[in-house]
Amino acid sequence: MSALIYVLNGPNLNLLGSREPEIYGTGTLDDLETLCSETAEGLGVGVDFRQSNIEGELISWVQEARTRAAGLIINPAGYSHTSIALMDAIQALDIPVIEVHLSNIHKRESFRHHSYVSRAADGVICGLGFAGYRLALIALSDILEEDQ
Ligand code: DQA
Repeated sequence: MSALIYVLNGPNLNLLGSREPEIYGTGTLDDLETLCSETAEGLGVGVDFRQSNIEGELISWVQEARTRAAGLIINPAGYSHTSIALMDAIQALDIPVIEVHLSNIHKRESFRHHSYVSRAADGVICGLGFAGYRLALIALSDILEEDQ
């Protein structure tokens, strides 16, 4: 059976396409899911793509990933900068984790420069738009292959 990678998206990412397109682009969350599915198919891995506006739901999905997923990609959106609870949940995982941000958070307001989640992630990609998710999938599939 092929390895399953969870791709979790945090609050307001359901608005992709119409939300601040000058920052986040014009592609929708559905477009992003399609990109992830097609990339995963090419890499021979499975993908479970989800979005939630609710912190506790994201934490429950991260906990679920402990037993169901071989790797995790997460764009925690606004919770990156606030959620110790999400960081704790990710720290409890022993699968590889890549944090992704569409925008370059370091080029933006100073409150976005710090991410609690980065303390728990193995790698961080930001500022590359949708391509960041594609690159994260490639990196995770490489890591999983090396671990075999
Ligand atoms: C974001 C950056 C966060 O600062 C912001 O709160 C988001 C999206 C990004 O993908 O660039 O909602 O995670």
